[in-house]
Amino acid sequence: MADTLTITDNRTGKTYELPIQDGTIRADALRQIRTSEDDFGLMTYDPAFMNTASCRSAITLIDGDKGILRYRGYPIEQLAENSTYLEVAYLLLNGELPNQVQLDKWTDKVTNHTYVHEFLRDAMQGFRYDAHAMGKMVSMLGALSTFYPESKNVRDPAVRHEHIVKIIAKMPTIAAWAHRHSVGRPYVYPDNELSYTGNFLNMLFRMAEPRFKPNPVLSRALDILFILHADHEQNCSTNAARAVGSAETDPYSTLAAASAALYGPLHGGANEAVLRMLRQIGDVKNVPEFVKSVKDGKGRLMGFGHRVYKNYDPRAKVIKKLAHDVFEVTGKNPLLEIAIELENIALNEDYFVKRKLYPNVDFYSGLIYQAMGFPVEMFPVLFAIPRASGWLAQWQEMLVDPEQKIARPRQIYTGIELRDYVPMNARG
Ligand code: ACO
Repeated sequence: MADTLTITDNRTGKTYELPIQDGTIRADALRQIRTSEDDFGLMTYDPAFMNTASCRSAITLIDGDKGILRYRGYPIEQLAENSTYLEVAYLLLNGELPNQVQLDKWTDKVTNHTYVHEFLRDAMQGFRYDAHAMGKMVSMLGALSTFYPESKNVRDPAVRHEHIVKIIAKMPTIAAWAHRHSVGRPYVYPDNELSYTGNFLNMLFRMAEPRFKPNPVLSRALDILFILHADHEQNCSTNAARAVGSAETDPYSTLAAASAALYGPLHGGANEAVLRMLRQIGDVKNVPEFVKSVKDGKGRLMGFGHRVYKNYDPRAKVIKKLAHDVFEVTGKNPLLEIAIELENIALNEDYFVKRKLYPNVDFYSGLIYQAMGFPVEMFPVLFAIPRASGWLAQWQEMLVDPEQKIARPRQIYTGIELRDYVPMNARG
């Protein structure tokens, strides 16, 4: 059996044989299919990239039907159980788990780049008191590029590495300061004696105590949430990072663009929508009525369903378990019972079973973040911090891939072909 596709063009009667590799045909192989010498050749039309692979990638594997998510081959459940976010970031960026010496060196480097230039603090002060935390993140990432003009040298692996370290190190600092700015509290400087997430909690929540002692359960829970959010192959923001980075834009501006994509409610904002929905339901006894209204087409069950997963999102399973550990420390989020009842009813309803609608990563994460004291506007920021490692791994992979070039799709032009300019006094 040949790994080829035979196409007959009924406009010309000509037949073409195209190679199939990895379950794909190359779109540019269609260009030879033409009706005449001056015909541009056949293209594919794929709005929203529903059936187009834009790259070859060895970073993250998702099998949506089986509910599988793996980073560099390692199942997400094993990483969440045994690894740390910084180790996972190393894995995503380098392809292999570090040995002890490599991990210590990597951790040390990241820990020693957590401070930001004082001018950035001044820039933060320029925002209005009610500026959204994610708007501040996007701006601060863009602003960081102006402090490191040498980061434009994206073809130099040593330069790339230096700025990858800086970005991963500084994400928690600017995120925490965005929050402190919102609540009108003084900025807290990094404490390099603490772990990555321990220090983040310090910069978020420290008040008058001489030294902040992060709760180990909350610090570990955040670390696990960071592992779960570190990468998710070619999602909207990663695609933005690859597209912008393909113009050889510096990594700070590239990540500002990726964060802007994540800011969108269809991408990074679903867990906020889950909280709003649970508050609207208000009580366990109202759940059956709410589920009925969803089945009747009056709105969606937020935190359910996924474009790729047609099975239980493996991240949701880990988060559901984690919620119980967190609530032991923080006290139960009163919305949890509503969420559990909602899940129980929905998973047994024909409507959801037939459509393969299962809880996704956002169904329980908002409940945990809220119980830990985060306001909802910080939710997408909490997503952006760990996703930075995924964006950077994908950005780097794109830059070293000899097949990649500046991303520049084609279009089907649907406008007027040609017309003459009409002077103002002759227009209707
Ligand atoms: N509640 C009720 N019905 C739903 C839901 C839902 N959450 N999701 C999908 N459906 C139904 C649709 O109405 C449709 O039914 P139909 O065939 O009778 O018309 C069918 O299931 C298929 O839905 P699509 O919209 O075609 O699925 P798509 O893959 O385009 O959408 C999406 C995926 C956007 C995630 C969707 O499931 C949804 O809106 N979920 C709620 C929002 C949410 O939780 N988003 C977070 C996603 S995870 C993330 O981005 C990190």
